Amino acid sequence: MTRVKNNTIQFILDNEIVTIDFVHCSLAPTTTLLTYLRSLPDHKGVKEGCAEGDCGACTVVIAEQKNGTIHYKAVNSCLVFLPMIHGKQVITVENLAHTTTAKGLQLHPVQTALMEADGTQCGYCTPGVVMSLFGLYKNVPAPDRTEVEEYLNGNLCRCTGYQPMINAGASLPANNDDWFTENEEHTLQLIQTINTPQTSITIETSTQSYFQPLTIDEALQAKETHPDAVILSGSTDISLKQTKQFELLQTVIDLSAIDSLQEFTETDTVFTIGAGMALESITKKLQNQLPVFTEMIRLFASKQIRNLATIGGNIASASPINDAIPLLFSLEASVTLTSRSEKRELSVEDFILSYRKTAIQPNELIENIIIPKPKNNCSNRFYKVSKREHVDISSVSAGFSLELEGNLIKKIILAYGGMAATTKRATKTENFLLGSPWDQRNIQQAMLIVKDEFTPLSDVRAGADYRTMVAGNLLMKFYLETIA
Ligand SMILES: Cc1cc2nc3c(=O)[nH]c(=O)nc-3n(C[C@H](O)[C@H](O)[C@H](O)COP(=O)(O)OP(=O)(O)OC[C@H]3O[C@@H](n4cnc5c(N)ncnc54)[C@H](O)[C@@H]3O)c2cc1C
Ligand code: FES
Ligand code: FES
Repeated sequence: MTRVKNNTIQFILDNEIVTIDFVHCSLAPTTTLLTYLRSLPDHKGVKEGCAEGDCGACTVVIAEQKNGTIHYKAVNSCLVFLPMIHGKQVITVENLAHTTTAKGLQLHPVQTALMEADGTQCGYCTPGVVMSLFGLYKNVPAPDRTEVEEYLNGNLCRCTGYQPMINAGASLPANNDDWFTENEEHTLQLIQTINTPQTSITIETSTQSYFQPLTIDEALQAKETHPDAVILSGSTDISLKQTKQFELLQTVIDLSAIDSLQEFTETDTVFTIGAGMALESITKKLQNQLPVFTEMIRLFASKQIRNLATIGGNIASASPINDAIPLLFSLEASVTLTSRSEKRELSVEDFILSYRKTAIQPNELIENIIIPKPKNNCSNRFYKVSKREHVDISSVSAGFSLELEGNLIKKIILAYGGMAATTKRATKTENFLLGSPWDQRNIQQAMLIVKDEFTPLSDVRAGADYRTMVAGNLLMKFYLETIA
């Protein structure tokens, strides 16, 4: 049984431990980090633009301890509830410049780089841009243009234009030491002070209950006691209920502190990914082994979102325009659902029941996602068609897999997102292709069948005709990319 901390959280800000006692202050456990920071006199650099993860103006960096070292990640503070930063360091734009007795005020190298590249005009987006560049500086020594773009694609700017910001990022040095590096031992000591002993958190205010367990069993127990509780992992979906729909989240069970949900293991035949793993952490594990998965993640939202958003949260949301699900269909992945009495494994295809409805029972949580390792003779692709490459929702997405024997199609899975109320396989097209040669004539026929299989909606993202045409064209793209 882990110890429980009641009503308080602690984190590091401005090099000091800050304690928030929710019962004796006006903050709620679901107050966002953005709102909290902006309530402080010395952290108004963090800006609110959209309050829904789209603009990056609220970007801050969270530093956390893993295996004795500090890891830095840029996140959208508008999506983070305060208890999610317990035991971590929050770094804002105000913390970057550093004063020494010898040299006076010294800008951080990323601030100097942005200034020298003329990377700011009105300045509204600048604190967020600086913090994204700081995340880049701490993670990628001497970044190239692609890496800079990857770190900046969650930051919108309406006046400067992105080239100077990219130039600033590309000029960052290979040596990424700074005063944060020099101070890490002290930061680790502060983190240890907070986490000794490590405690789960229970916050009860007059209007809300917020639980942050350390184990799955505690989470399941809390779920049993509070069947109506909102579950969250990365909160990139859930936080919008509050910030956009103005819902009061009365009871929350926050899974973000459960280490076992963030484990990754593999055997000769499968990858097992903890449901609480953030997409960016999955990229690090799979980039050489399952490039199709990291391609899906590359196109998913922005760096700041991917640092928070979990794979379990993505599947559980069961949205028809969700990116992971079509790919997981095509990879024949399954989910492990855990209750206090049993574990059961279900294919992702059987897990998705209907529009935003899954097979999860009230007493269950998703524990992990199991992906069979594709055979050598298998080709897998993920395609996402959207109006913008990044921070955009798919108009149509597709996860395809193909196994050939000679030139004959031994197995084919064509899973589409954005074409129906749920992710759906084009089974008639699959059946038509099965056993046939993988050639252009058959693909052209298959393109006609796939168009007949779906009756997609027209909405703000795309018209039904456009979606139907794209679904067929993606099949041709797959063919052209996989012919020997
Ligand atoms: C700006 C922006 C851009 C986005 N872009 C994309 C995109 O490109 N592609 C895309 O697919 N999605 C996108 N999303 C949606 C969202 O980021 C993803 O669905 C994300 O993966 C959700 O994960 P999370 O951990 O943040 O989930 P949360 O918000 O914490 O939870 C989402 C749902 O999952 C449930 N849940 C979470 N963990 C578990 C668990 N272990 N067991 C059972 N239920 C659980 C929660 O109860 C909730 O219903 C975007 C969101 C934003 C705000
Ligand atoms: S305020 Fe726009 S991303 Fe947070
Ligand atoms: S400098 Fe004005 S929004 Fe970027």
